[in-house]
Amino acid sequence: MKEKRSTFTGSFGFIMAAASSAIGLGNIWRFPYLAAKYGGSAFLIVYIILVLTFGFALMTAEIVIGRKTGSGPLTAFGKLNKKWGFIGVLATLVPVLILPYYNVIGGWVVNYTAGYIGGFYQDMALDTYFTDMLANPVKLIIVHCIFTAAITAIIMGGVTKGIERASKILMPVLLVLAIAISVYSITLPGAMEGVKYFFVPDMKHFSLQGVLAAMGQMFFSLSLAMGIMVAYGSYLPKDSDIEKSVARIEIFDTLIAILAGLMIIPAVFAFSGGDESALGKGPGLMFVTLPKVFASMGGTRFAGSAFFLLVLFAALTSAMSVMEAIVASICDKFGWSRNKAALASAVWSVAGGVACILGYSVWSGVKFGSMDILDTADFLTNSVIMPVTALLTCIFVGYVFGVKNIKNEITSSGKFGREKLFNVMIKYIAPIFVVAVLISSILDSFGIIKF
Ligand code: PHE
Repeated sequence: MKEKRSTFTGSFGFIMAAASSAIGLGNIWRFPYLAAKYGGSAFLIVYIILVLTFGFALMTAEIVIGRKTGSGPLTAFGKLNKKWGFIGVLATLVPVLILPYYNVIGGWVVNYTAGYIGGFYQDMALDTYFTDMLANPVKLIIVHCIFTAAITAIIMGGVTKGIERASKILMPVLLVLAIAISVYSITLPGAMEGVKYFFVPDMKHFSLQGVLAAMGQMFFSLSLAMGIMVAYGSYLPKDSDIEKSVARIEIFDTLIAILAGLMIIPAVFAFSGGDESALGKGPGLMFVTLPKVFASMGGTRFAGSAFFLLVLFAALTSAMSVMEAIVASICDKFGWSRNKAALASAVWSVAGGVACILGYSVWSGVKFGSMDILDTADFLTNSVIMPVTALLTCIFVGYVFGVKNIKNEITSSGKFGREKLFNVMIKYIAPIFVVAVLISSILDSFGIIKF
């Protein structure tokens, strides 16, 4: 007899798990520099509107597909309509490609967290610390394996005792750390300038590119179009209110992004004497600039340890959701046990991760255009497969599966107050948005326009 599928213990467990997937590196380092770059609260307002419309529609659709079919992403679409089953293959390809390199970055975070807790904050503030770390494959492979082992253990624990429990413990700690660090950051001398910079809308810096960047960020930050919400939706109890849950996940995710802005922007302003260019893009902000900021403060060891612990928890809970999307897919399609599927994913993570790591040293000659191995995996997923998957999901839900069926699933356990908004979004507006994201992110990756 087939085993009964596990579920979260209720809406709260589900909300915590889904929010813990959404809250990740995107909230902590990507959101603050985008907001700083595109006009502070002007960017924030556009971002929030997009989350409540476009994000709401796509997240709702994915969760419904998961709950209705009780299947991981690989098989869910095909269960609803055989011909459209290929969307599931695309949606599963994203976490498969993301897992190794996300875990490599998770390894960097393990290294920094251990460094701060061990008291090596002066070393980490050196200009060359980050590049030296990348040039040391043995160290990177060790921290990568530690990070991968941690998420594999959680996934093997199961849906309730692994994922739900980890989220329920780590998310409240993350929230408390975020509040404490923000308060610390805004009370530093000279920090108020940064708070103003973040909250006062500056239309000079706002542009169409800002809107496109907000869209791409929203997409990534809510963990959409990568099968994760389908997988987690498949564990959502049949009596849980979907619309309410989506609203809470969105609020939590956005709150952490705003707190991250309050942690980082004022601290960098205080450190750089108000020089906004210090908020540079990319890993440099988190792994190079912030350690310098911490080193310049009095309570360095404490602030740095608290900050990197927060980042570590955010990265762990996002990475485990990536692994779960793969594990759920394998178990549903091939009938493997959870443990076997988790171990196979871990082996893949280490193999792919080692390739990414060697891409920084021994294999630095391996390039796709100007991109190393890690950047290539990131480009393929974020800039190409995810927007394509999202577009196909909109078309499938709007015109093949039908919005009526979505409504039926939602109203079987709650209200669907934003039904009209959902219909208009999924059928007409979201597909246009997604095409805009697809085109702009490809142009951005090739340096034709700059974000
Ligand atoms: N949503 C996560 C964030 O904001 C990103 C993520 C990427 C999560 C890939 C899961 C998988 O950082």
